[in-house]
Amino acid sequence: MSDTKRTATLSFDGQSFDLPVYSPTAGPDVIDIRKLYGQAGVFTYDPGFTSTASCDSTITFIDGDKGELLHRGYPIDQLAEKSHYLEVCFLLLYGYLPTATELEDFEERVTHHTMLHEQMQYFFRGFRRDAHPMAIMVGVVGAMSAFYHDSTDITDEWQREVASIRLIAKMPTIAAWAYKYSIGQPFVYPRNDLDYASNFLRMCFAVPAEEYEVNPILARAMDRILTLHADHEQNASTSTVRLASSSGANPFACIAAGIACLWGPAHGGANQACLEMLKEIGTPDRIPEFIDRAKDKDDPFRLMGFGHRVYKNTDPRAKVLKQSADEVLELLGVDNNPLLQVAKELEKVALNDPYFVEKKLFPNVDFYSGIILEAMGFPTSMFTPVFALSRTVGWVSQWKEMIADPQNKIGRPRQLYLGETLRDYVDIEDR
Ligand code: SDX
Repeated sequence: MSDTKRTATLSFDGQSFDLPVYSPTAGPDVIDIRKLYGQAGVFTYDPGFTSTASCDSTITFIDGDKGELLHRGYPIDQLAEKSHYLEVCFLLLYGYLPTATELEDFEERVTHHTMLHEQMQYFFRGFRRDAHPMAIMVGVVGAMSAFYHDSTDITDEWQREVASIRLIAKMPTIAAWAYKYSIGQPFVYPRNDLDYASNFLRMCFAVPAEEYEVNPILARAMDRILTLHADHEQNASTSTVRLASSSGANPFACIAAGIACLWGPAHGGANQACLEMLKEIGTPDRIPEFIDRAKDKDDPFRLMGFGHRVYKNTDPRAKVLKQSADEVLELLGVDNNPLLQVAKELEKVALNDPYFVEKKLFPNVDFYSGIILEAMGFPTSMFTPVFALSRTVGWVSQWKEMIADPQNKIGRPRQLYLGETLRDYVDIEDR
């Protein structure tokens, strides 16, 4: 944090309080209010944290107005074009682009941690076959703390490193097995001769009855989806992981909490909700009805896959994913798929509708990721698990950064209390 002499003065009720102002390397200045309650006896009020910096970080920077996303300073469009997911994992975890030797060593370590403890299969088998894969992921990832107890001591740097690699390496196996279990097919084990994205696709779509060849264009598209979802500053699920970790809970339990938060339709669940919305719309001629519903203040309906808390002009990830969507649809010859026809028409209508232009609502990352995953043959229930497996490296990187921060303390917000003031208990016979 910059050494600052600048202050902001807060004045009210005839009092004034000087609060330190810090300048970042990029983005808005921050006003340090940590001593405000002690000095002024007041809290700040910011439900949803729209104006609150919860921490300092060096991992990811987002400029919502410019539609800019940097990972350790590198722009997402360059990473999507020139890098690949495991290299981006290294960048997020360690802060720099690896040498060829470092990358090879990292990929070797991840590759050799992709198997699950054989007994963990019983966790999957305890679920109903129609359990949502996210429910299975929350359960199995939380249970990892019982199987990998030798990497739960967060005060031990080596154990933190091992837990990080295990989580990144095993998440595709967990997601793929959740899918296999839901369709009644046998689990497919990871292969060490496949890259990360290819391994995941094979574990999802291979069957023991025949060889499975991964289509390199689909593998590249999957790798790009994983790269584009890897980290995103202090979003809801990352903030959940940070808050859970601030109590000293083990990394597996904290990542399970992040998965639970990501599941929500306003967050990572939007890709599933978007495709289900497209199915509900059904045909392009019904789009105006849904656009009107999205504008109706009395209707809670939102156009899923549109809008963003931070990006107010464009989601840079969506721009890259849109290119992948076009490649995959063309490859699979599904550009006449009615669902995808509705998606293309909806995008066109929304981008030209004054309401959406004025509210700065545009297709976000979830709009296009859902389209690609649908075209690849994933059921909508697997969309958010793919997001969760990608975001694991972001959660883990932010967790490592927080644990190593000497300022790290338990997160404990306060409130604006509007309930009853002190009153005496009333015996039941007197009520
Ligand atoms: C992700 O934070 C992250 O970084 C998240 C994420 C990541 O990588 O971690 O980027 C991943 O979660 C992407 C967002 C996925 N969610 C969706 O696609 C769900 C649909 N989108 C909305 O729920 C909404 O846009 C949010 C939740 C994404 C953002 O909500 P905000 O910023 O809190 O905006 P808001 O709800 O205050 O809405 C502002 C206005 C409102 O109108 P007014 O009350 O001002 O009149 O815009 C309207 C809203 O009604 N609005 C929408 C809309 N989104 C906002 N109207 C119709 N359809 C929408 N999708």
